[in-house]
Amino acid sequence: MINQIPILTIDGPSGVGKGTVSKYIATKHNWNLLDSGAIYRAFAYEINQKRIDFNDEQKLRAFAKDFQIEFIASPNEELVQVISNDVDISQLIRNEEAGKTASVIAAIGYVRDVLMEIQMSFAKEPGLVADGRDMGTVVFPNAKFKVFLDASAEERANRRVKQLQSKGEDAIISRILADIEERDHRDRSRKVSPLRPAEDAVVIDTSFMSIEEVLLQVSKIVEN
Ligand code: C5P
Repeated sequence: MINQIPILTIDGPSGVGKGTVSKYIATKHNWNLLDSGAIYRAFAYEINQKRIDFNDEQKLRAFAKDFQIEFIASPNEELVQVISNDVDISQLIRNEEAGKTASVIAAIGYVRDVLMEIQMSFAKEPGLVADGRDMGTVVFPNAKFKVFLDASAEERANRRVKQLQSKGEDAIISRILADIEERDHRDRSRKVSPLRPAEDAVVIDTSFMSIEEVLLQVSKIVEN
């Protein structure tokens, strides 16, 4: 049944613009949206709050059974709102620290295992845009459309600095670049579900493209 639902997977490294593209396509086609990074962030946040040791597989699996997450897409917000166990934790998980913790727990096989089912449950009519690192390779290998967005670490760090500055926040480029490189390394080199393009994904290097050009190119893939 999952094979009949049109699914677009958008994978790629941190800060490459997957969120913006995913939200655009999901809104345009009225499809469901899965921000799988937010699931890893929310899960990491919750186990931290509950002081569950992430090396304790049994406790972690038990906790995962009760873990509930919901996304609310608002047309005025850049990113989706994340509701975990009935609490809006959007702001709490969207910082560099939460991203780092998420990437640490995301390298553990059984964590990926327990979060897989939640991710698959997003595949519902009339369609799905799934944003992450292993959407096209592991979670939805039979997806109809697959895109892998890429850009140099320097370009992604520059974009992040501009984004933070536009919100009036301080940004030190060398620190942001170091964080991006560290997260890239961890995501690409882990044993389970490493970040890499699926063999049948269209790879788009966005380093020298405007966001409008990227949106157009991905739209064409889905509409052809
Ligand atoms: O995409 P985002 O930056 O929110 O993801 C946070 C972290 O969660 C990533 O650095 C990655 O380690 C992990 N992640 C993952 N698989 C996914 C989505 C996110 O391992 N499908």
